[in-house]
Parts: sequence; structure tokens; C-alpha cells
Amino acid sequence: MTKIDSRASQFTHFKLEPYNPFIGAVIHDLDLKTATGEGVRAELRRALAEYGVLFFRKQSLTPEQQIDVARIFGDPDKAKAYFKRHDQNKLIELIEFKPGQPAYGTDQWHADITFSANPPTGTVLYARDVPPIGGDTAWASGTYVYDRLDPALQAYLETLEAVHSIEHSGWPEWFLTQPNGEELYRQARAENLPVVHKVVQTHPVTGRKLVYVSPNFTLRIRGLSRQQSDALLTFLFGLFEKPEAQARWRWENDSVAIWDNRATVHYAVTDYTEYRLLHRVTFGEDKVF
Ligand code: SIN
Repeated sequence: MTKIDSRASQFTHFKLEPYNPFIGAVIHDLDLKTATGEGVRAELRRALAEYGVLFFRKQSLTPEQQIDVARIFGDPDKAKAYFKRHDQNKLIELIEFKPGQPAYGTDQWHADITFSANPPTGTVLYARDVPPIGGDTAWASGTYVYDRLDPALQAYLETLEAVHSIEHSGWPEWFLTQPNGEELYRQARAENLPVVHKVVQTHPVTGRKLVYVSPNFTLRIRGLSRQQSDALLTFLFGLFEKPEAQARWRWENDSVAIWDNRATVHYAVTDYTEYRLLHRVTFGEDKVF
């Protein structure tokens, strides 16, 4: 039995199938609506911290039930991005693509909302109406990236901080496609001044170190010249591109992915032209690290 298999067998409230050696797990034999006991909830939290992203098939969740799922992991009531919201429940963000209309710029590696001082600790994404093929989402592990670095480089990165900014993302471009785009953009900028996060963070649950930068929001490394910062960030971003760091999930309607937004980045693969709708809830914005 491999180390990964022995970890998986420790979960008793559901069957956990590791997805890739370094990231991801599929959870079987669990209807998320019925995950109300503290035993199963504690196991889900542990699985999320250990595997980075959890996948579920054949779930059926109302907006309120999806929010209850998010509450297993953290408080879903705080900061949100600028996606449209569900009519009946404003905590649900609509990740919606309509043919012929502008797409959100989520086809870049990012962790959610790191342009804010307290980004969410995680996200629940629920597929409502997805194309039969295409429109996958991929995740990559910051822990994997850290573990692959030379110890001297690890030690150096641990001394650094990076600036994260909404300006350095897909949002400005998207705002400007909207009828009141200039105003939206001005407001978003005023609400989100650039923030600083450590380049290497320690996961509060696993105690493991991870690299915490992403091309969508990380603007530069403080204290380095522009050229050195760009070169170092490009090197780090490249490590997240390694297939070994990644898990790519093919959606079906009623699939759910729950990810740890501290230890992973994700990328919405934009290789489809049909309608696509997912419901998203972020949680745990109180204190990330
Ligand atoms: C996101 O970045 O949260 C959206 C992912 C997706 O649309 O697949």
C-alpha cells in the first residue's frame, strides 16, 4: 500500500480516492446535503487541507444548501469578487458565460481574491449547466511548488513579500466591457488598494510551507528591481505549470469542487463556446494565514 493509499483509508465517513499523487481527491458515497454531523464535517475539513481540492459527482444543491456546505469549512458571509450574484441569494456568485458575451478573465492561474488583505480560505463551486465537453477547471499546488525548490531558494523566498493588486488581473478588462464599466473599474480600484502577502506561507492546518503567488494578481516582489522581480515571479509561475503540480477536473452538471484557496491556485480552461453556469461560494475570509 502506498503512503497516499494509507492516508485515504483513514477517512471513515466517505470513500476518498486520491486524484493525482500531489493534489486532489474524489469523495464517493457522500451526499453533501446530509453532511451535518461533526464527525463527517471534521473529516471533510481534514481532507481539504491534505488534498487541496475535493471533487464530488451527482450532488443536488439549492443555493441555501450550497451555502450550508461552505459553512462546514468557514464563514461564507464576507468579501466577494465582482461576479454577478444569484437573484435569490446574494452569497452565491454566478460564474456564467453566455455565447457572444464577454467572458470573465479567469483563464489565468489565480487564488481567489488575493487582491484583498484577507482572501477566502476556500471556495465551493457547483456546476449547474456546463458544456458536454470543454470548460474544465485545473488546480495547482503551492505546496508542491515549494517542496520542489532548492533549500537555499526556499530560505530566500521566505524573506520576501509580494504586492497583489486587482489592477493586475482579468477584472479591469472585464469591467470595461460593461455598460457602466469606467465607473465599476474606478470603484473596484478605490475599494481594493494593493495589498502585501508573504511569498511563502505556512498552512495553518497542515503546517506545510507553500508558495503564495499567482500570475493573475501578484504584481511584484517588494524590494527587488522590476527586472529581478519579473524574473523571479516568472520562474515561480512556471513551476505551477508543471503537470505534476496539477489536477484538471472535467465538469458534469451537479458536480462540485471545493478547494483550499491558501494552498492552491486554479485556472478556468476557456476552450468552449456554449453556455456555462456554475454557482460559487467563497468562505473563511476572516484570517487566511
Ligand atoms: C473561478 O475562478 O472561481 C472560476 C473557475 C471556473 O469558471 O472554472
